[in-house]
Amino acid sequence: MIAQKNSEPWVFLNGRFVPYSQAVIPVDTHALHYGTGCFEGIRGYFNEEEKTLFVFRLKDHYQRLHRSSATLMMKIPYTVSELCAITIKLLEKNNDHEDVYIRPLVYKKDSTVTKFNLEQLSDGLVIFTKPLGRYLNVSQGISVIVSSWHRVDSRMIPPFAKPTGLYLNTCLSNTQASQKGVAEAILPNADGSIAEGSAENIFLVIKGQLVTPSKDQNILEGVTRATIIKLARSLLRLKVQERKVMKNELVTASEIFLTGTGAEVTPVIKVDGKKIGEGNVGPITSKLQKLYFDIVHGENPRYKKWLTAV
Ligand SMILES: Cc1ncc(COP(=O)(O)O)c(C=O)c1O
Repeated sequence: MIAQKNSEPWVFLNGRFVPYSQAVIPVDTHALHYGTGCFEGIRGYFNEEEKTLFVFRLKDHYQRLHRSSATLMMKIPYTVSELCAITIKLLEKNNDHEDVYIRPLVYKKDSTVTKFNLEQLSDGLVIFTKPLGRYLNVSQGISVIVSSWHRVDSRMIPPFAKPTGLYLNTCLSNTQASQKGVAEAILPNADGSIAEGSAENIFLVIKGQLVTPSKDQNILEGVTRATIIKLARSLLRLKVQERKVMKNELVTASEIFLTGTGAEVTPVIKVDGKKIGEGNVGPITSKLQKLYFDIVHGENPRYKKWLTAV
């Protein structure tokens, strides 16, 4: 049953659905001070005609959250199926008739500033939703810089685990981009290869093939990245290379685009002031973007298996 629209949204906090204003945590919560959390970002697309919210790859996101939590020694007291069911219930309660972003966060919830042993700290779980439209300019594309901030190395913090503390790296590089008047930053690794955008994976089109940094390049293994690789191979019959990508390859690429739940498929038209290709959205990017948007909006029957209807 669809609930009546509430004046404030519901939040799932440590086992209970509570109104947003009551979803509060103490000031000395461990995660607030030490970045001890990991999270997911999931999108739901509202289909006006069907009056249905389609959540994209819900199960895959929760599988990643389980992997991230295990890496960071955090325990989620729910299985992947239970997390999916809780999220569906939350979306039904919030009853949004627009595109939404779903944010599950697992965090160290103890009130302490002196403990650092992850195994001795207890875990909390919060899930909330927010209306979310476009995050970057997907239609015209964006300009980016290669940041002077490096991507955090997996020998420091596992970047594939989406740890909250790591997002200071995102904030610093993204701030640098906006100080330089562009929309986003690309982060290099210490050896001058390219890892990814501040919160997106990156793809290059080189000689008609897709090239993207491989999983050992300190990237987050994006759900959108995996989706695009699958679509490129199976529908567009493109070759996709996952490998080390050097910074100088960015300017030789005929097209570049970023992928992410937030960023969707965002064309990159300039890097460090230099035009990519003709300086507008390239043909391969356009095709993949169209496929992606059709799928997430429930307009491609073959890929409805990736959607959870609410
Ligand atoms: C650092 C980083 N890389 C890549 C991505 C893209 O991942 P996904 O496609 O799973 O959203 C994100 C997503 O938020 C991210 O934060």
